[in-house]
Amino acid sequence: MVIQPSMDHFWKGLKTGKFIPKTDKEIKQFMQENHFGGEAITELSKEDRKVIEKPIFEHLKFNMSEKDELKKLCEQEVAYFPSGIDYYKCPCFILEDCFFEEGEFFKEKNEKGELLTKKEKIKLFSNPNIWHGSILYETNSRGPFTSWGMRSLEGYGFNKEHFGKIIKRVKENTGKNLLNILDVGGASGVALKEIKEYFPKEVITNNLTIDVEPVTYEFDNLYLCPGERFPKKLVGNMDLIISNMAFVYMPGQNLTLENCLQALSVGGEAFLSVEIGKQDYFVQDFPNRMRKQYDRMIHLKETGFIDLKVKSGSHGSHALTHNPKKEMGTWYPPAWIEIKKLKSLEEL
Ligand SMILES: C[S@@+](CC[C@H](N)C(=O)[O-])C[C@H]1O[C@@H](n2cnc3c(N)ncnc32)[C@H](O)[C@@H]1O
Repeated sequence: MVIQPSMDHFWKGLKTGKFIPKTDKEIKQFMQENHFGGEAITELSKEDRKVIEKPIFEHLKFNMSEKDELKKLCEQEVAYFPSGIDYYKCPCFILEDCFFEEGEFFKEKNEKGELLTKKEKIKLFSNPNIWHGSILYETNSRGPFTSWGMRSLEGYGFNKEHFGKIIKRVKENTGKNLLNILDVGGASGVALKEIKEYFPKEVITNNLTIDVEPVTYEFDNLYLCPGERFPKKLVGNMDLIISNMAFVYMPGQNLTLENCLQALSVGGEAFLSVEIGKQDYFVQDFPNRMRKQYDRMIHLKETGFIDLKVKSGSHGSHALTHNPKKEMGTWYPPAWIEIKKLKSLEEL
């Protein structure tokens, strides 16, 4: 597990019983230093940065300051039911205000639970399994702790055996024994954690995400930045790139695709899933941008720099070719993109 330093206020809140949210100024500074700091493969234009920054700031603001559960976990009594309640057979937590709302129900169940001390809260919430595998009962709702759905490697469409074959092939094609694996939008690193468990001596895990959570699974490197702005040091260094349920949140998917091309090592492979969604929600000329990027990728394929497969399922067009000729905010079909890098782009 990794305690995320950017969420120090939550840990302090658990200790003191008072949650002090990060201010907008602090969040903006954090974003400037991390998401938009350091040298990028390609620096964003002013206009693109404005569009890309907006959802990131909103997301960070929610996770670092507005998320009510964090405040409540710090400031309220929390009852813990290690073996679950009702049909939830996973650990369950009930907040104090829930006791009052649904008094009878929780009084009845309370004998099976325990009220947590501050120390116990810190110990339990330092465990990423608790964030991913527990249910939190609030006043009017119950649900998981984390803001995003966190999928396992199978949720990305790979089982261990299949992924093992890919690793073997990429090792042969890159001539490397230790592969750098990058998950673009890896959230708390569930899939990367599994990859490391399955192939501990063969992989270095790299998580690129805009997220901050109080605690995450372990990975070797964390890049807190948008897919649209990869750090320069990734150029030519990533041997296997995966991405699941993340492109759909990116205003500049074309820029992320180009960054993946640049970051792949020769012999490296990328498996990128662009889910169905309102992909032009933020960017006016989204279809043109995607088409231009796709044309570039086709050109790279025709000139022997990459191998490229783009599947669209049962839809005629896919996310890279779709042109709705309508206002913004229409639905785009998905795309499953596979890239193999055959030659360095420096030879272009
Ligand atoms: C729904 S989660 C998916 C997590 C994981 N890949 C999975 O399939 O369970 C969406 C992920 O996309 C990331 N994300 C959203 N906007 C992004 C952006 N502009 N650049 C990179 N990642 C982004 C979020 O940080 C989060 O990690």
